[in-house]
Amino acid sequence: MTSEGRQVRSTLFDRIGLLYTGDPAREEIEDAALVVQDGEVVWAGPAGAAPCADERVDVDGRCVIPGFVDSHAHLVFAGDRTAEFAARMAGLPYTAGGIRTTVSATRAASDVELVTLTAALVSEMLAQGTTTVEIKSGYGLTVEDERRSLEIARGFTEETTYLGAHVVPPDASSADEYVRTVTGEMLEACAPHARWVDVFCERGAFDADQSREILLAGMKAGLLPRIHANQLGAGPGARIAAEVGAASADHCTHLSDDDVSALSSAGVVATLLPGAEFSTRSPYPDARRLLDAGVTVALATDCNPGSSFTSSMPFCVALAVREMRMTPLEAIRAATYGGARALRRGDVGTLRVGTRGNLVILDAPTYVHLAYRPGVPLVTQVWKEGRRLV
Ligand code: NIG
Ligand code: FE
Repeated sequence: MTSEGRQVRSTLFDRIGLLYTGDPAREEIEDAALVVQDGEVVWAGPAGAAPCADERVDVDGRCVIPGFVDSHAHLVFAGDRTAEFAARMAGLPYTAGGIRTTVSATRAASDVELVTLTAALVSEMLAQGTTTVEIKSGYGLTVEDERRSLEIARGFTEETTYLGAHVVPPDASSADEYVRTVTGEMLEACAPHARWVDVFCERGAFDADQSREILLAGMKAGLLPRIHANQLGAGPGARIAAEVGAASADHCTHLSDDDVSALSSAGVVATLLPGAEFSTRSPYPDARRLLDAGVTVALATDCNPGSSFTSSMPFCVALAVREMRMTPLEAIRAATYGGARALRRGDVGTLRVGTRGNLVILDAPTYVHLAYRPGVPLVTQVWKEGRRLV
């Protein structure tokens, strides 16, 4: 509503110093303007040439970017793992087994507690510019706890991922029996609430045959595949991603040349999660090698209580530039357009005619400041589908 009580249908963002559109056809526009109407971008171009709108926002020379697309997050959980983090910083290694600690706390939490905790993380993300987030299950690991995790996730996003195959829970009588549950009864209960199926393909979690079986079963139930691949060591994950036509292989920290070419020829997005390497004090993935091989790279937070308890895409952009030798342009592209590609979404992650009016105004003249001024709260306004939320 305007102050006169009229319904606002269109907003002109005027005097944008730099518009990063995320659209490969016209990625950056200096001295720009943008019009959003009924939740969608209807015009983008030079300032001064824009059509009129119901309201005008004077961006005053700042930089506008698409809302971040965080395509990998584990937000439905209870408890935290501060002690594990502190022990790691004192020299202990990260292992997949820590997941079980969060599973116990999550199972013990009520629905209301889980909704409240998830909501807090989603609003933390929004305040830092994330307007699209993928949320995985994976800390329930019973039929009922996975189903309710996904039902809760669905309350926050369309991008929900069934990750019953996170680890084999301690109460399963064997790994084989648990895989049967994940591909049977649990899948049946979870599929109606999920868009994606994922598996943690890693030593200590699920091997190649189990991972393939889990993804194929999910696909048969109508879910789209993505995978946790090659995080803690070399392994079959990236090749399985290519084989099943996954939208994305996530982590990609330990890749062989063959893995890189498999991802590149199958058009699988490599989603890099530098928050995990930061928080586990591990070597970062080689983003340059992937980019040079023509692989589309996405950046995401991997927000979870064990390996990466950050909800901040700006932090991940800064890490990608400083630690993974991505240029600031490559990093902002990966955090917006790349994330959208990893979720097979054409309506978010870019600001061009027809996409959703999801945008961030930075208190900076350029997105380069996200890396140049790390840790500084540069996100000043966040708009989602044409409405200001922050
Ligand atoms: O993506 N790799 C598997 N899952 C998470 C870690 C989960 C945890 O430690 O609780 C990840 O890093
Ligand atoms: Fe993860």
